[in-house]
Amino acid sequence: MHDTRATIRLGTDATSLAEAGRLLATGALVAFPTETVYGLGADATDSAAVARLYAAKGRPSFNPLIAHVPDVGSAFALGEFNAEARKLAEAFWPGPLTLVVPARENGQVCDLARAGLSTLAIRVPAHEMARAILHAAGKPIAAPSANRSGHVSPTEAAHVLSDLDGRIDAVVEGEAAGIGLESTILACLQERVILLRPGAITRKAAQAVIGREIENPETSSENNPLAPGRLSSHYATRAPVRLDAEEIAPGEACLAFGPGLPSGADPARTLNLSDRGDPVEAAANLYAMLRRLDGLSPLAIGVVKFSKTGLGEAIFDRLQRAAAPR
Ligand code: TXA
Ligand code: MG
Repeated sequence: MHDTRATIRLGTDATSLAEAGRLLATGALVAFPTETVYGLGADATDSAAVARLYAAKGRPSFNPLIAHVPDVGSAFALGEFNAEARKLAEAFWPGPLTLVVPARENGQVCDLARAGLSTLAIRVPAHEMARAILHAAGKPIAAPSANRSGHVSPTEAAHVLSDLDGRIDAVVEGEAAGIGLESTILACLQERVILLRPGAITRKAAQAVIGREIENPETSSENNPLAPGRLSSHYATRAPVRLDAEEIAPGEACLAFGPGLPSGADPARTLNLSDRGDPVEAAANLYAMLRRLDGLSPLAIGVVKFSKTGLGEAIFDRLQRAAAPR
């Protein structure tokens, strides 16, 4: 609401979380931790608050937002869940899953938050602080990742402040986000289930719940109406990102994954997502390590080759977007 106001730092005690919810309910922009990444919240029913949110992020306003609610019952009130959507909701909520379903006629999420679409993206986060804030707010909260549009998503309160200090009303300074990658997005529309964004709920885990294959979006994500905001270039570092690097050139930084380093890697400019090759640890480290390597102003960031199955699919998806020409 107040573009030039200093950003309030809130703690994580019950009073502070209730205050965060109260601020959101009165139209303020408040960043808060979730188990995936930090979100920047605004009242999803208030188009003026949502407009300020787009402005603070510098986000193209055709990009629709996820409505966050504290429990499955509130989610069912906002969208039309078919049998498969219900199964997925019951299996994975609260948790790092977003479901895109037809919006209910009487749902209160404003047109601007939905970017005019007839569908709605909904998530019930598992993070206890996020749930307490949503509960206190008492309204669906639109919450994109709390970074400037196109930047790497924030996994720590300090990342939020480096992008948005002075542009938002408050930030809840919690711990680092545990998962480190944005939620898996599945669209459940007209008897189809489509993976719009890979994440910690893997394709395999979701397929096991519905008992059949999950589809991929048919066209490249750039022009795909099912994933309107999934720009092929995203998560941008200043340095170019080079994937499947087998050697590291002088002046390049290296993002390693697993034991051993590629030839030419300078240990002072190398970070390892996970020495022991653990994809869960790698996901949690990804955005913070990209930020740190980028801060060394290398000629490029060479990323070693790694397995692209399971959580590796989500990690590779983000790196591909970071590496896309822009
Ligand atoms: O983990 C997360 O999902 C985080 C935390 C804060 O919850 N939020 C997040 O929001 O990643 P955001 O705005 O950065 O990403 C939302 C994605 C965008 O790619 C957007 O295009 C897509 O969800 N989306 C939203 N509504 C949609 C809809 N109706 N149909 C298809 N895609 C939609
Ligand atoms: Mg984002």
